[in-house]
Formats: sequence, C-alpha cells, structure tokens
Amino acid sequence: DHRSDLKTLNLYNEIISTLPKRKGWKSDELYHYQGFWHDFFNLEGLLSAQQHFKPQTNDIILSSFPKTGTTWLKALSFAIMTRSSFDISASPLLTTMPHECVLSLEGALAHNSFHRNQDTPLIGTHVPYTSLPKSMIDSGCKIIYICRDPKDTFVSLWQFARNASLKGVDSSTSEVVDLEKAFELFCDGVTYYGPYWDHVLGYWKASLESPERILFLKFEDLKKEALFYVKKMAEFVGYPFSLKEEEKGMVQKIVDLCSFQNLSELEVNKTGHLHGNLFEKRLFFRKGETGDWKNYLTSTMATRLDQITEQKLRSSGLTF
Ligand code: A3P
Repeated sequence: DHRSDLKTLNLYNEIISTLPKRKGWKSDELYHYQGFWHDFFNLEGLLSAQQHFKPQTNDIILSSFPKTGTTWLKALSFAIMTRSSFDISASPLLTTMPHECVLSLEGALAHNSFHRNQDTPLIGTHVPYTSLPKSMIDSGCKIIYICRDPKDTFVSLWQFARNASLKGVDSSTSEVVDLEKAFELFCDGVTYYGPYWDHVLGYWKASLESPERILFLKFEDLKKEALFYVKKMAEFVGYPFSLKEEEKGMVQKIVDLCSFQNLSELEVNKTGHLHGNLFEKRLFFRKGETGDWKNYLTSTMATRLDQITEQKLRSSGLTF
C-alpha cells in the first residue's frame, strides 16, 4: 500500500503545490500538470500510478474524458470478457455497478494496484494519453478510448457536477458555477482532465499510429450501431464472438444487458454511493442520449463550441 508511505504522499503534495492552479467549477482548485487540469485527489493518484503502476501483459485500459460514456464502455467490455464465465442472467453487472466491476487507475488502484480485478484485467482511467504511466505504454497493453460530441459532453459534465453538488454529502461539493461560467471554463479547457480537445487528440493520434493497440470509439457511433461496435470491441480484446454465439443472439444480449434502460433501472445503480460517499450512483445514469445539448445551449454557445472543435481538430481527420 503506497498510500501508507507518508513520505511519498508528502512528496506528491510538494510537487502539486508548485503547479499552476486555477479555481475550477466549484470552490476546489485545479492543478495544471503535463498540459492538463486535475483535481488534487486524482492528481495525487496519477502521480502515484506514474511511479508505481505495474501492468500485467493482458491488461486492457478503458480510457475516456469524464462523461463521454465511461460507464457504458466499462459495462460492455466487462460483459464481453465475462460472458463465458457467467450466463447473462447471472452477470455481475446485475448486482455490481460498472465502476465497481472496473476500477480506476488514478482512483481505487492508484495506491493499491493489488486491488485490481484478477479475473478480468480491465482498468479504467481518465488520464490523458501522454500522462499514462510509462510502464503501461511500454507493456504494449491494449487501450479502448471513447469520446463524445463536445456539446453533449459539456452538458453531461455540468449536469453531473451540479447534481453532485446539490445532493452530495462531501465537503468538497460546494455549489457549482452556473452554466454560462462553466461553459467559459470548458471552452478554456479548465475542467477535470481538460482541455477536452487535447484529451481526444492525444488518443486519436496514438490510435492512428497503433490501430492494433488502441481502439478509438465514439459514443454516437455506439448508439447508432451498437451490434457492430460490440463485435469490434470483442475482436479487439481477443474475445471474438463465435458464429454459434452470433446465431444465438449473444451480441444483442450484451447490448441489451448494458443498455441505458437496463442498467439505469437496476437497484444497484439506482441506490447508494460510489467512491466513499462522493457520488450517488444514479448520477452516472442521466439520459444516455445524443443531442441533449439542444435543451441547454443557446445557438451562440453551440456555434462557439463547434468552432473551437473545428479549429482544434482541423487536419487531424477527426470530426464530431
Ligand atoms: P448524459 O448525462 O448525457 O445522460 P460517464 O459514464 O463517462 O460518466 O458518462 C455519463 C454519460 O453516459 C451520461 O450521459 C449517462 O447518462 C450516459 N450513460 C450511462 N450509461 C449509459 C449506457 N448504458 N448507455 C448509454 N449512455 C449511458
């Protein structure tokens, strides 16, 4: 347990205290490290992971910017990889939240990498590509990245932060800034793990260089063509569906098991909290749709975000 090493923790505190900082969406501060903004807790976790994380050869990293489909990606990958051990009707996903099935590199696993799920080598993270532990990159482990239209990502993030601060019990959950202010900060890249576009581009470029190692997905594509992408994911992680499984409708069963409708109705995802008492589990399931930004952003705001996206992604070959 690296956390018990007080000296190390003091060292991390010292490093963090030298970093540029800015007030985030709440009263807490964000720290600028390796080109991205981080909150204190997750940054401490990242520093620890960068120093200590020991990958296993078969690790599969599920990476994302917050609110782009992390929960869904975790559920689908977990269901794909455990389908031979559990019947769908007995899937651990029915009794365990996806975030508890797949733990986080800079969160639960940061100081205790032995807590990793030994049966299913999936690890979640929001860490930008260029900040992933070197050990992880060197190990050549596979990565699935999911991203989402920046407008929906922003709205989902603001709704999450707002609801967490209204209902949360943690002292750091003071009230979140209003939509307009949050929008300015998002455009400036000042959000957890922001700037959003740099996060996406890091993984996008890496996926172009090593498509066999990094699978790049979009929330919108997954919504439109779930069966196709679930098959693709299964092949990518080395658990392809057999013809027999396809004939039996196994792909559809996994899509249905992990659908927003199914997961959000499960008792385990409706009640209780995650990460100590920080977040209500149900906050991870809000609407699960594409285009909800239309209900929150003015057309001026939407145009502005689209322009930033156009500018930042220009010449990358990536569009939303
Ligand atoms: P909305 O706020 O737009 O509804 P993350 O999992 O990265 O925290 O992202 C949360 C977003 O994904 C939320 O978006 C949430 O509703 C949506 N979501 C969660 N589970 C989903 C699922 N199984 N299918 C589709 N969307 C899902």
